[in-house]
This record gives sequence, structure tokens and C-alpha cells, in this order.
Amino acid sequence: MAIQYLALATMIVLYSLMFLGGYISAAGLGLTCPEWPLCPNGVMPSEEYLIEWIHRLAAATTGTLVIATMVASFLNKRADIKIKITSTLATVFIITQITLGALVIDTKLHAVLVAIHLGIGILLFSMVLLTTLFAFRISKASLETKV
Ligand code: HEM
Repeated sequence: MAIQYLALATMIVLYSLMFLGGYISAAGLGLTCPEWPLCPNGVMPSEEYLIEWIHRLAAATTGTLVIATMVASFLNKRADIKIKITSTLATVFIITQITLGALVIDTKLHAVLVAIHLGIGILLFSMVLLTTLFAFRISKASLETKV
């Protein structure tokens, strides 16, 4: 997949993940799945914690996409240092965020950790947004050199 579409797909899945996180928090569903990394039913979903289960599935999908975008940025010959930095920072933030997700569950939704979880989510989104913009710039530049 071209790097710009990979980055765009990452941003869309990440946005949905953050939207879902906000819903979980506001609806008080944060401890419906009290275990980590899997919920009590293992990899299978259950009606009682479906939203939390989707949040974790989306987190795993986002993690895979963020890492794939970083690898693509290092393999792309036209990629400059900026996209390499933003995609690497996004990878650092997603790893931190997933680890923090475990701590949020372990500490039974400690308010400071939930606030940090939101804060890192925003930093992560910023890096993915910049990576997407840089990726579209690369594809535009390569189209212009072909004309
Ligand atoms: C990997 C990327 C992730 C992102 C971007 C993300 C993002 C978010 C956001 C934005 C919120 C809403 C916070 C708020 O409104 O204050 C949230 C809530 C939450 N997240 Fe995540 N999350 C991620 C991964 C995880 C993981 C892996 C877990 C657990 C295993 C997790 C557990 C939770 C829980 C329990 C809440 C609800 C907290 C509450 O009830 O107040 N998150 N997440």
C-alpha cells in the first residue's frame, strides 16, 4: 500500500479509537473488562464488555498500522527526515500508550493515569496527522517529477 494511504488509514482508525475511549470514560465502562491484555473471555468478545473489547482491538490494529507506517517511511527513498521523525515518535507514543492502558486497568482507573492516557493520545494523534501530511507531500512531489 502507498505510504500516504497507509498513514491515512492509521489516522482514521486512531481517531475512532480515541472517540471510543472518550465514550468508555464518559459512560463509566472503563472496568467492564478488568483484565489485561485479554478480557475474561480470552480473544472472544462478550456482550458485557464489547465496547472495551473493541477499544483494545482498535489499539492493537492502530499499533500495527503505526509501526507499518514507520517501516514504510524508512524504506521509501523519497522520504525525508521529518516523516521519519514523526513516524518514529508515533511508534514511541503508541507503545507508551498501550503500556499505560494496562496501568489504567491495574490501578482501577487512577485519575492521573487516565488524564495522561488522554494526553498521550493527543500527542500520538498529532504525530500521525503530521506523518499523513508529509506522506501526501512525498506522493505529490513524485507525481510532479513524473510530469
Ligand atoms: C493504543 C492506543 C490507545 C489510545 C490512543 C487510547 C485512547 C484513549 C482515550 C482518548 C480515552 C479517553 C480518555 C478520557 O476521556 O479521559 C481512553 C480511555 C480508556 N482507555 Fe484507551 N487508548 C489506547 C489504548 C488502550 C489500551 C491498550 C487499554 C487497556 C488495555 C486502554 C484502556 C482504556 C480505558 C480503561 C479507558 C477508560 C478510562 C475511564 O474509564 O476513565 N486504552 N483511551
